[in-house]
Amino acid sequence: MSVASLGYIGFEVSDLKAWDSYLTGFLGLMPGRSNGTSARYRMDDRAFRLQIDEGKADDISFIGLEVETWEGMQALRGKLDKEGVEYAPASDNLKAERGVRDLIVLTDPAGLQVEIYVGATALTSVPFNSPAGVSGYLTGEQGAGHVVLASEKMDEVRDFYTRLLGFRLSDTIGIAISPDFTLTLEFYHCNPRHHTLALAPMPAPKRLHHFMVEMATMDDVGFAMDRIGKCGVKQTMTLGKHSNDRMISFYAATPSGFDVEVGTAGIAVHDDVWRVTHHEVTSMWGHKRCN
Ligand SMILES: [Fe+2]
Repeated sequence: MSVASLGYIGFEVSDLKAWDSYLTGFLGLMPGRSNGTSARYRMDDRAFRLQIDEGKADDISFIGLEVETWEGMQALRGKLDKEGVEYAPASDNLKAERGVRDLIVLTDPAGLQVEIYVGATALTSVPFNSPAGVSGYLTGEQGAGHVVLASEKMDEVRDFYTRLLGFRLSDTIGIAISPDFTLTLEFYHCNPRHHTLALAPMPAPKRLHHFMVEMATMDDVGFAMDRIGKCGVKQTMTLGKHSNDRMISFYAATPSGFDVEVGTAGIAVHDDVWRVTHHEVTSMWGHKRCN
């Protein structure tokens, strides 16, 4: 039994106002429900895909992993019980807040809160409408996007996401840091999105290196690039195409310091024909660091 997609991402941020204009004005997400200390944003018909909560961490604070069916949720609970993995059934309050029918809360070996749920709220009567004119995001079975997590506990974190939750390796990229040291990034899928999760075995000040949102068209990405100056956003990497998922994307700094990757046209992975490969560079072209 595996999780099916990254349903939502939560961030703890020190500047809610800056994040609000970043997410709506620059990325083009639609505002959802909010109160004074927490706000949610939509990318599609779901009640939310991103949530920001006021706090000091300026980092990712939780991820929501979706299971397709009620039966799948029961099976996953059974597997965790059998493996002796600790989890807490969510309170009615938390289930209501997330708008899901059933939810359990785990902590990954690096300390990130992982919420596994079924039955997310869909707001089909209030269609998605981007305030910045983004035509849409690629979500659906591929979920909200991807996250790249930095951790020194690679063996434990890998085991948690693969053996327990069912993520499968897509490929690896070796980045030569020095003549004697190559950093190997690992990319994992749980649906046709090439990677929903990537793991970087390194110490880092924040858990999250970046998260990625995939826009529907190249024009959406181009228009987002045009908004960089207007929205006072700092671009961190030029437009480029990744060697493994072939995503055409650029990177920008969020108000919390970590990056967002804004991409389009990533490839889909199908388990019956996919072969794990290794790459020696992160990008086919572009993705040059901006000063
Ligand atoms: Fe990425």
